[in-house]
Amino acid sequence: MSILPILIHPDPRLKKVCAPVGEIDKDLRALADNMLETMYDAPGIGLAAPQVGVMKRLFVMDCVKEENAAPQPMVLINPEVTWVSDDMNTYEEGCLSIPDQYAEVERPAQARVRWLDLDGRQHEEQFDKLWATCSQHEIDHLNGKLFIDYLKPLKRQMITRKMVKLKREMARG
Ligand code: NI
Repeated sequence: MSILPILIHPDPRLKKVCAPVGEIDKDLRALADNMLETMYDAPGIGLAAPQVGVMKRLFVMDCVKEENAAPQPMVLINPEVTWVSDDMNTYEEGCLSIPDQYAEVERPAQARVRWLDLDGRQHEEQFDKLWATCSQHEIDHLNGKLFIDYLKPLKRQMITRKMVKLKREMARG
């Protein structure tokens, strides 16, 4: 397993709609393993394939927060939201592609998601709380959408400018 470099906003790859996964093969399993390792290392609770430059519809997540609880790594391939609740929930969101920037985003409080696992089996589950927010945030990534796209333009531009500056500093080393 290896830790993959995470793309930092702004990057054109983070604005693209990803293609469905065709075959679930050895390479895809290796990618999912590496994405999980990268997510835990960051650390984060979700990571979508385009964030590591792979333009395919899959993401990983683990929203277990309690310190001594067992980890619950999930790999969701070709995920689709099949239902969302009318009631909304606000979380302070962040993103591994927008380091150290957080903002409140309102989303449906519950979401049903259908996906394939690494064995090609179909699942459908209703997520709530942090899991609902995280799954919607990650599916947005697969459609080229970032959480800052929900913010007012001024706030979004401010964050983007900070990221441009950060990337310049990172490039300098
Ligand atoms: Ni994100």
